[in-house]
Amino acid sequence: MERALAPQFRLYEFAPAPANFGAEVILGLQQPQKALPSKFFYDEQGARLFEQITRLDEYYPTRTERRIIEEHADEIAACLGRGCLLIEYGSGSSTKTRLVLDALEVPAGYVPIDISKDQLLQAATEIAADYPNLEVLPVYADYTAQYHVPEPAQPITRRVVYYPGSTIGNFHPKQAQQFLQSVADVAGDNGGLLIGVDLKKDPALLHRAYNDAQGVTAAFNLNLLDRINHELSGDFQLDAFRHYAFYNPQAGRIEMHLVSLREQTVHLGDNKIRFKRGESIWTESSYKYTLDEFARLAGGAGFAVERVWTDTVELFSVQYLTVR
Ligand code: AVI
Repeated sequence: MERALAPQFRLYEFAPAPANFGAEVILGLQQPQKALPSKFFYDEQGARLFEQITRLDEYYPTRTERRIIEEHADEIAACLGRGCLLIEYGSGSSTKTRLVLDALEVPAGYVPIDISKDQLLQAATEIAADYPNLEVLPVYADYTAQYHVPEPAQPITRRVVYYPGSTIGNFHPKQAQQFLQSVADVAGDNGGLLIGVDLKKDPALLHRAYNDAQGVTAAFNLNLLDRINHELSGDFQLDAFRHYAFYNPQAGRIEMHLVSLREQTVHLGDNKIRFKRGESIWTESSYKYTLDEFARLAGGAGFAVERVWTDTVELFSVQYLTVR
């Protein structure tokens, strides 16, 4: 469905299938290792808490990625080339995108894709106002599900998917590879992917990033139980669970859990979920890669790494990949 909003602005809607929150939560809590998908963190309060996380001293990824883009914007723009269609997955407030858009030479258009319609419309309206010569084609969709990329009026030299923030790290590697394959299909022949990838580093630094002193990450993690209480008539006692995040060096990932501090039974509507003391709900994985590991993963999905930009101490990378 298509709705005209302003001369260079129209919304494309692919009504995301309402994620079956209740069914996925119950199923996850019935597994031997209780687990909840991390995509469910982002209700309104969760999105607010995540914004706060990105501004914490301990959470280095956001500011490091931003600095890398600021520093190398011209080289990045040269890789993407003149007349590209920039397609952003999970565009949110589109803040980092402006750095890329500012540097790009006559982009054919900008396609922000997001599952939060209000935020998508607001960000797209602001971008359209600030870049009057840019065709903005917002897509309201779940970028991991079904949608198609609208065609701008201008001819396109290539399609480039922009996927910042190292959200790729929240997929398990097998899923990450499948997801990257779908990105290669969207980008098509001669297409590219501009992606933020968090790197392996001193585990103490990683530990601090997910265990901040102010407890914002703990609040973000516990908010998931609060969301379940509100939306699924649950009776989780938030003070009976503790945020627990650690780096697992064998798996190369941060694991976030919520650990039950006592034996207890939680009710979700008619369902009863029993917890032993010390039992956890695994709520998120955040994989970290070496540059070689990521190149192999991307290679398996049909991408070749063209360029890698990092900060001086290699905390984070921004990479430009092309479809082979
Ligand atoms: C969104 N994602 C890349 C964040 C991460 O670092 O994995 C989510 C997050 N979880 C805790 N802090 C931040």
